[in-house]
Amino acid sequence: MSSGATPSESVATRVATPLPWRLDCHIGAGGEAAVADELRRALTARRPWIPARWFYDDAGCDLFVRITDLDEYYQTRTEQALLEDHAPEIVRAHGVAELVEIGSGAARKTRVILDAMEGAGTLRRFIPFDVSPGAIAASAADIAAAYPGTRVHGVAGDFGRHLSRIPRPRQDGRRMVAFLGGTIGNLDPPRRRTMMRRLARLMRPGDCLLMGTDLAHDPEVLVRAYDDARGVTAAFNRNIVRHINAAYAGDADPEQFAHVARWNARASRVEMHLRARRDIDWSIAGLGVVLPIEAGSTIRTEISCKFTPAGVRAMYEDAGLALTAWHEDSLGRYALSVATAG
Ligand code: SAH
Ligand code: TRP
Repeated sequence: MSSGATPSESVATRVATPLPWRLDCHIGAGGEAAVADELRRALTARRPWIPARWFYDDAGCDLFVRITDLDEYYQTRTEQALLEDHAPEIVRAHGVAELVEIGSGAARKTRVILDAMEGAGTLRRFIPFDVSPGAIAASAADIAAAYPGTRVHGVAGDFGRHLSRIPRPRQDGRRMVAFLGGTIGNLDPPRRRTMMRRLARLMRPGDCLLMGTDLAHDPEVLVRAYDDARGVTAAFNRNIVRHINAAYAGDADPEQFAHVARWNARASRVEMHLRARRDIDWSIAGLGVVLPIEAGSTIRTEISCKFTPAGVRAMYEDAGLALTAWHEDSLGRYALSVATAG
């Protein structure tokens, strides 16, 4: 069912045809005060960091798709295989008519779920939600064309702020909220807990949450997934500097930062950093800051927490959800799980 077109091609070729999809955009062009304040605070913190949404401009979304094709990045193909094996039974068990996908990105794996819904004869509506308007526009157009008769209602927003803008569930069928790709692991424990509770609020009794979580296993394999031999992940990490420069008239050369991925055993997470190769004064005019960055010091750009089955269950319970299905791959690296609202 894949069109094989790149996102930009599909927008360019299909935009002239009126298709049954819409896009609500809650993302400003970098001008929102709250977004600028958050970034300024993060960059000037005692331990500087960058909110992960800054990875995902159009170039970053393209690089992320390349990450998902890497040999080292087993997560995507493992999740895809788990979906192929289990989506039909999950969709049938819950009578899923509507799919809400949080952080949908290029929405490639999504098609496995939509195919299962189509196969069950229940597919009505798809609601992709992502911080990247470009990714939503491209995937919404592709999916509307590939699944005629399905309503596609994209929402471009920040999942820390705009989940309440997701349309209300339809009365005539159950909703599945999907949160794939291990993205829940990119939130620290307090944000994760808030996120799970907000996801639960998108559900009515009988609706289900489908989540992909990376599991704690061999640290070497884990770190390699975030530090590939061809340097795609390094390019993805440096692109965050380019994106911030473009949004706020910054002047740092991304190549002056080295990509670092390391295992933090205590917190059971992989961390990504940018390490200054030499002293850098990063002037960011639009934020009104000049950051003196000493050679060898680091800016944290991402965390990717790795879970145990008990940890995932506890996360659902805290949000008032009940774990109803657990599927992991034969190597115990990745899990797809389902929880329901009671
Ligand atoms: N679901 C896809 C993509 C995962 S990458 C997959 O499994 O391959 C994480 C996705 O979440 C990206 O598409 C990114 O644009 C989106 N994202 C990151 N931070 C976000 C935020 N704060 N709000 C909404 N979406 C966000
Ligand atoms: N959700 C993905 C993960 O944690 C995001 C991701 C994959 C990522 N590779 C990355 C984030 C590299 C930053 C850098 O696996």
